[in-house]
Amino acid sequence: MSTVQDALQALTDLTPSREQILADTLAGLSRTARQLPSKYFYDARGSRLFEQITHTPEYYPTRTELALLNRVLPDIARVMGPRLHVVELGSGSGRKTALLLAALQDLVAYTPIEISRAALLSSIDHLAPALPDVEMLPVCADFTRPVDVPAPEREPARRLLFFPGSTLGNFASEDALALLRAMRQTMGDHGLALIGIDLHKDPALIEAAYNDAEGITAAFTLNLLVRLNREVGSDFDLDGFRHRARYSTERLRIETDLVSQRAQDVHLDGRTFHFEAGEAIRVEYSHKYTDDGFDALVRQAGLQVAQRWDADSPAYGLRLLRTL
Ligand code: AVJ
Repeated sequence: MSTVQDALQALTDLTPSREQILADTLAGLSRTARQLPSKYFYDARGSRLFEQITHTPEYYPTRTELALLNRVLPDIARVMGPRLHVVELGSGSGRKTALLLAALQDLVAYTPIEISRAALLSSIDHLAPALPDVEMLPVCADFTRPVDVPAPEREPARRLLFFPGSTLGNFASEDALALLRAMRQTMGDHGLALIGIDLHKDPALIEAAYNDAEGITAAFTLNLLVRLNREVGSDFDLDGFRHRARYSTERLRIETDLVSQRAQDVHLDGRTFHFEAGEAIRVEYSHKYTDDGFDALVRQAGLQVAQRWDADSPAYGLRLLRTL
């Protein structure tokens, strides 16, 4: 029988190539309303900075979700029933995954889905030792599209997709819908999903979470330009752009921009991109949801909310989804 390590070695690493990042950057800078993909925040330094953000006093989502999960885990485990195959969108090296997996009864298998083979490896390394009876079936794939989930040797009662961290909020509305439809497919007809979502609340509290006093979020945002300068050879002046995160009460989302501090040119791949003073590059959304809005969104993807678990202050939600 092959080991998990053999299976991992065989996986293709789908981490984006320089060509892919360059093409996305050129396309994003060529638009009238400039934008860059937030998924490129997470190089090694970006991932470290995000981890630091989660420890700032202002950034409530991570600790609120963890406390909520801890509190309602017995309830979750009861509702889910035994013999699950847990499929996580993103690699769960974090505490939330370990908590959930440990709480479930007679867990059959665990599948993290990740584009980075290295992240999958570290996820399995962290989780496998405490779960000797659980089959580890990592998959290298882009979870925004339907994923073929490998069948465990032992027949599971159902499949549970786990998508914590309010990562759904980072997708623009149409992309969030496409992702939920992909999840619906990956779940199968009798599958479930447990998803963490940040909820609409006092805008001052939300804005503070994305503008921490220490400036770690600003460094995290600017790191995108650091990464592009290094990996695709742009010449963004790191003092020439500033982090700005504002909550839109109309669209219920944090809109994060890098704002040009003066008129300036940026060069990339033989091209020149001119910025006016005050001109912005949109780099991230972080949607906050109302119950009505979220219910309507998942319905459009053929899903429904079967159960809600809420933290009250600050408001944060875990939602159990099933197929319509
Ligand atoms: C955990 C990826 C969803 O949007 O709140 C934190 C990313 N950006 N601070 C979020 C993030 C700025 C975070 N996600």
